[in-house]
Amino acid sequence: MRARMAFCEKDRTVTASLKILMLSAEMVPFAKIGGPADVVGALPKALRRMGHDVRVAMPCYRSIRPEQFGMTTLIDALAVPFKHGTEDAAIRETTVGGVPVYFVDAPRYFQRENVLGYQDDGDRFILFCRAALEMCRALDWSPDVIHAHEWHTAIVPNWLHTIYRHDPVFQSTASVFTVHNMAYQGIFGHRILEVAGLADQEFILPALAEKQIDAVDLLGRGIAYADVVTTVSETYAREILTPEFGDGMEKLLRQRETRLEGILNGIDAEALNPATDIYISQQFDADRLEMRAANKRALQEQCGLEPDPHAPLLGYVSRLVSQKGADLLTTAFDHIMDLGVQMVIIGTGDPHYHELFSQCVARYRRRAAVHFSFGADWTQPLYAGADMYLMPSRFEPCGLNQMIAMRYGAIPIVRATGGLIDTVTEFDPAAGTGTGFTFRDYDPWSLLAAIARAVQSYRYPDSWHHLMRRAMSVDHSWRVSAERYAAAYERALAWHAEDAALHHPSDISDGLQGDREV
Ligand code: GLC
Repeated sequence: MRARMAFCEKDRTVTASLKILMLSAEMVPFAKIGGPADVVGALPKALRRMGHDVRVAMPCYRSIRPEQFGMTTLIDALAVPFKHGTEDAAIRETTVGGVPVYFVDAPRYFQRENVLGYQDDGDRFILFCRAALEMCRALDWSPDVIHAHEWHTAIVPNWLHTIYRHDPVFQSTASVFTVHNMAYQGIFGHRILEVAGLADQEFILPALAEKQIDAVDLLGRGIAYADVVTTVSETYAREILTPEFGDGMEKLLRQRETRLEGILNGIDAEALNPATDIYISQQFDADRLEMRAANKRALQEQCGLEPDPHAPLLGYVSRLVSQKGADLLTTAFDHIMDLGVQMVIIGTGDPHYHELFSQCVARYRRRAAVHFSFGADWTQPLYAGADMYLMPSRFEPCGLNQMIAMRYGAIPIVRATGGLIDTVTEFDPAAGTGTGFTFRDYDPWSLLAAIARAVQSYRYPDSWHHLMRRAMSVDHSWRVSAERYAAAYERALAWHAEDAALHHPSDISDGLQGDREV
């Protein structure tokens, strides 16, 4: 077993620094389609501060302009094994916040308008991942750990156990795979295994073999082969073991339960700071709460609402889809407005909800507004100006917005699920504890009841200000989570060494259901 050095220095266990390659389809500030981009934007910086040599690789999409980010070309033409031949990719590099970022530039597959949404998405991300591994070989850089995010990179743990298993560069490389959302699995036909050079590998689900099988589930492969599997909150890590949240993967996840853990995301507390935020009218902090009123006024003005300082202002920044509770909110809308509140909705999503929200707000002139965008010039003023923040998600692996809202003093009203319940605790005015309002059942009336409790509590300014200060002072920075990831990397290395000694990945030998039937 490869011995990782750990030694004690003044009561502190110091672990030898690790070489980590992080793989992702998205990363702030280069490309963002969801929360994972924020995670991959912030976690490497925090790990770097702990002394680890973290580098990130992602595809070079058309929207990423090399000159804007001062990229240099590291490798002109890397011949990447792909399908039945090779595909050339250039490797470009830049540094952001001290973190080297490598871009796989394969124009045929990535010079396109969007990150995702093409018929050949499976091929595209297989190519990206393969290029990232071939890059390590070309640079002779041997990572201790590869940390792969989401289905887009889930093939990598599979490769580390197969075609790259005896490669000297990866021989002792362990893998960590992070599931950000079970709902996105990357399901493709059997052909994807040929694209990935794994055609001689059959489906890995003998237990389901009697059913009709025609699909390879990339997310399942990541879960089946990674040395450690993580997801983004402790509650969600438990929830996905059940059929309600497991999306068909619960059986596989239960088999891999000893390798599964939940690590809560953090937020970038430097970039998201009401004391320095340039997008808000009036900067403030927990000791200068009275200054926050100017932001409420500015938000009301920006959205065409009555400039009423006393009306509780509810905010909702979200992808407008059912996962985020858009159906609850539109159903309960009139009853919520009957509580005498104002409401601002920001986001984009399902056209059906664009239409529904437009109809809802049209009924409440000067009291409700919707804006279809995600720009920081709209979201930051909302966090800084709203009194309460809604997050009634059907499920929520972690959720970042409730943490941002808390940091800006907007009190979260959340459904008790996943990361939401790991970050928000119910307000108890008598005890003077809690940071927000929660509800359990996924129905509009439970949401309405939680909002009614919040509106009632808002009438008592002293205790409300205490509540705001408590919410604002919770530390959701990446520091703690980064330490937990570092520990997960160490565990992955230990498992990897153990499995290598046994000559097979222990859990997989008896046939896991990594792929799913269709
Ligand atoms: C996904 C999840 C969200 C999580 C984010 C970052 O978008 O739906 O809950 O916060 O990933 O991990």
